[in-house]
Amino acid sequence: MFKRLILNIGALLLVGGMSTVSWANVPAPPVNQNIGIPDGVFNNLARENCWYCHIPSRLTPADLAVIDWSFAAPDVKPGVITDRHHARVDTVVQDPTQSPNGVPGELYDCLSCHFVEWNPVTFSYDIAQNFIDCLNCHTQVVNQASVHHLTAPAQALNCQHCHGARIDNPGDGHYIPTGRPPTLVTPRTSDGKGTNGEGACDFCHNTGIDAVSGRVIPTNDVNHHSTGIGQPGISALDCTVCHDQMGTDWAIRRCEDCHGINSVHNIQADSNGDGVVTVGGEDPFFGHIGSSPADCNGCHGGYIGAGGMPAPFSGPVVPELTGLSTQSVPAGSAETITVSGISLSNEILTFFGAMEVDSTASLTAADGTTIALTAVDVTPSTMNVTLPADLAPGNYYLRAVKGLNNMSNPMALVVQPPVAIDQVVADGSVLTISGNGFGAYLDAIDSGTSISMAAATCSVNSWNDSEIVADCGASTCGSLEVESIFGSASTDVSCN
Ligand code: HEC
Ligand code: HEC
Ligand code: HEC
Ligand code: HEC
Ligand code: HEC
Ligand code: HEC
Ligand code: HEC
Ligand code: HEC
Repeated sequence: MFKRLILNIGALLLVGGMSTVSWANVPAPPVNQNIGIPDGVFNNLARENCWYCHIPSRLTPADLAVIDWSFAAPDVKPGVITDRHHARVDTVVQDPTQSPNGVPGELYDCLSCHFVEWNPVTFSYDIAQNFIDCLNCHTQVVNQASVHHLTAPAQALNCQHCHGARIDNPGDGHYIPTGRPPTLVTPRTSDGKGTNGEGACDFCHNTGIDAVSGRVIPTNDVNHHSTGIGQPGISALDCTVCHDQMGTDWAIRRCEDCHGINSVHNIQADSNGDGVVTVGGEDPFFGHIGSSPADCNGCHGGYIGAGGMPAPFSGPVVPELTGLSTQSVPAGSAETITVSGISLSNEILTFFGAMEVDSTASLTAADGTTIALTAVDVTPSTMNVTLPADLAPGNYYLRAVKGLNNMSNPMALVVQPPVAIDQVVADGSVLTISGNGFGAYLDAIDSGTSISMAAATCSVNSWNDSEIVADCGASTCGSLEVESIFGSASTDVSCN
């Protein structure tokens, strides 16, 4: 474990810009693992592996330290897992749904996901512990398909939804040179025609041991096939998502459905540790558009007169997000959050000197609507973004965007509804409390939802997001407290 810690620090240093070539896979193969999703197989995961990337709020980093990750050592950490589930309460159950009891078209309530069990000893309900293991609800097909690639966006071939513009989406209209036949310059998927095997993806992306993590990087066919996309028995998608003329000079054109010129010509990591990615100015084997011709030759086989030539469409190197200063904000707060990442700005060398390309940001709501945001203080590794004050509560994805649509991977952001009591009307011992952010009620011990008066628990007659009717019995005045899954609120009910 200690060894892995040191290796992880090594990886952090590399990303942070203190890289030394001796820590990198230079020359490839395998390729470095500085950017993108770690290359590997993720279809035989245990719950701890999910936690590694999606830290549930009740786990501490110390809990994570005991996880034996034997598949890969990823550094993608989307976060805020509990809140993202709870933000679904009172929204429409999606179709298909992974909830054990939810009915598509109806609204999520606590029992869409949770089970309660009667406890005869305490004479009350307990929440069954079905929620600890992600795989109780989210499915993978062991050794065939991973959780993420069985989701609706993946099955709809919206790969950018999670991978960002490191790849293109099939059918989105991006440029593929279909009008001309392949030449010696056209990259092969494997078996490059250059003198040393240059001219193919697997000239660099091939199996080998990653110098930084000590992990075995699989071959490209294993990385793709193991997602389950287009594999038999998984869904209606088939091999033609990636193959139409396998083994021929044309084969790469189908790959270009996702690896179009505009995306492959914008993949680049920092090599010299100055923190800035400079298109055309990085050492070879840290990406695709470092100091030519070495990188260009890897794909183009040495058949392109590449000395100093810029690659078409290159410039706005694909930005990548690694963290947000907070992933959960109260609604209405207009909070400024610091976004960390890689290549949030980069440089291109022009005839007039170096020019900087900066990211802006965008927020995508759960219904798919997108809001453009301004980013300030943009550096390669951080930028500040102020959220609009009028964001509706719910789940959002925040992304960095360069140019029109060169977008990063998403980071989840939860906008929490404010919990507030507006009015309390008493009718004998029965109180009607109106306000907002009450969410829903689950009648179980430690459900995180309750109402009390002067510290005595009231019994709930009805409970929705804006109104609770409860019987507080003999406690008719004092401090009234509502605890909801989104937070708590209190008010004083006078005793006269
Ligand atoms: C290598 C890191 C990694 C691992 C391991 C991982 N995830 Fe994810 N997961 C991500 C990223 C990145 C996203 C996309 C961003 C997001 O939604 O937070 C994501 C998204 C998801 C989503 C949302 C899918 C959608 O429709 O948008 C679910 C559900 C999910 N993961 C479940 C799981 C489960 C269950 C496991 C364990 C079997 C797991 N993840 C393991 C990185 C990981
Ligand atoms: C969309 C599914 C979903 C819905 C709806 C949902 N929950 Fe949860 N809940 C979860 C998951 C998943 C976890 C565990 C996440 C984790 O591991 O941190 C969880 C965790 C919890 C926990 C344990 C929290 C902790 O820190 O240990 C409580 C209590 C809880 N939920 C109560 C509720 C109540 C009350 C409601 C209704 C108001 C509700 N949940 C609605 C999925 C859901
Ligand atoms: C009790 C069932 C249950 C468990 C356990 C569970 N989930 Fe979920 N999860 C859901 C449901 C239901 C949804 C909403 C989508 C749907 O209806 O399929 C969801 C949605 C998500 C999303 C997308 C949230 C968004 O932004 O809209 C992520 C990410 C996710 N789950 C990850 C996890 C991870 C990681 C774990 C383990 C810590 C986990 N889930 C455990 C039921 C569950
Ligand atoms: C819901 C988010 C999500 C969507 C949508 C998605 N992916 Fe992924 N992808 C991930 C995550 C997270 C990983 C790492 C864990 C895993 O494989 O489940 C990954 C890993 C991969 C890998 C292996 C890692 C690597 O770098 O070699 C490939 C290949 C891949 N995805 C291809 C695709 C393709 C093709 C699509 C579209 C058809 C797609 N993905 C859509 C989240 C997603
Ligand atoms: C000259 C060597 C070289 C060749 C040839 C090459 N790549 Fe890369 N590629 C790299 C390096 C280096 C990276 C950065 C890896 C990192 O640091 O994570 C990279 C990253 C990527 C990424 C980003 C995601 C990831 O997993 O890191 C994709 C996608 C990609 N390459 C696709 C391709 C495709 C498709 C081909 C063939 C058309 C290809 N590459 C050929 C060197 C190469
Ligand atoms: C998501 C993309 C994707 C899908 C879908 C896909 N493949 Fe592949 N496949 C690849 C990649 C990438 C390679 C590596 C190409 C190379 O190195 O030339 C590959 C290589 C292969 C190879 C040659 C390497 C080997 O494994 O011996 C065969 C055969 C193959 N695929 C068969 C299939 C079949 C059959 C299907 C459908 C059941 C399929 N593939 C679906 C991406 C895919
Ligand atoms: C449907 C979309 C799709 C198609 C088609 C596709 N890929 Fe990929 N490919 C991906 C995604 C997504 C990734 C992972 C990017 C990341 O790390 O975020 C990837 C990664 C790669 C990488 C980087 C190494 C790695 O495993 O991460 C190479 C090389 C690659 N693909 C080659 C190919 C080749 C060759 C073909 C055609 C045989 C092909 N791909 C077809 C989506 C696709
Ligand atoms: C990761 C692989 C990869 C790398 C590295 C790469 N390219 Fe390309 N490039 C491609 C692919 C794929 C095409 C499309 C070829 C086809 O389908 O005929 C392409 C096409 C081109 C074209 C023709 C564009 C057109 O309009 O058809 C030029 C010129 C070019 N690349 C120059 C460069 C230069 C210069 C570099 C180095 C700075 C470079 N490329 C690095 C993959 C790469």
